[in-house]
Amino acid sequence: SCRIVVLISGSGSNLQALIDQLDTPADIVGVIANRPQAYGLQRAAAAGIANECLDHQDYTSREAFDQALMARIDAYQPDLVVLAGFMRILTPELVSHYRGRMLNIHPSLLPRYKGLHTHQRALEAGDVEHGATIHFVTQELDGGPLVVQGRVSVLTNDNPETLAARVQLVEHQLYPLAVNWFAQGRLRFDAEGARLDEELIGPDGLR
Ligand code: GAR
Repeated sequence: SCRIVVLISGSGSNLQALIDQLDTPADIVGVIANRPQAYGLQRAAAAGIANECLDHQDYTSREAFDQALMARIDAYQPDLVVLAGFMRILTPELVSHYRGRMLNIHPSLLPRYKGLHTHQRALEAGDVEHGATIHFVTQELDGGPLVVQGRVSVLTNDNPETLAARVQLVEHQLYPLAVNWFAQGRLRFDAEGARLDEELIGPDGLR
């Protein structure tokens, strides 16, 4: 099986989508949150998945937290680490340790709107299209090779909350799709970028 550890900070609706939609051989073996109140921990417990909190506030530096986090992740011996609303900047050491085996979901059509407040920024820019992206994690924040993107139309009376809600529906389809590919050995990362089966995925990701 493909052993998967999911990292979360909050609600964990993407974790829930993974719990509900992953197929064999994908197997979520652990969930780690950096906030004790993260509701996703309860979702993991309800699904009978090992879960724990590593509170970043208990550490004096980012390096110390990430070292402890790596040790906790590696205790599960994962083949893949999935960032699902994990709202932390990662140290270069952690990123390089999981090179080619860490995925992230970002709530925009990357490379547009790296960072925070993506829905508000898309609205302020007058975009007619918005969405979400799955990508491999590299040293560049929200900059690794794209895997797949899902699009939504922006409606005239959208606000950041209504737009975010529609983007999340897309996220809940996209993440299980990409993680199932990885677990099946179809999705890889090499020097040229992300590949699905033998095909190099273009700079804009699959659509
Ligand atoms: C998701 O919308 C995800 O795209 C976003 O956080 C949300 C988590 O929701 N991630 C980022 O903003 C990463 N910088 P969830 O906890 O319900 O899955």
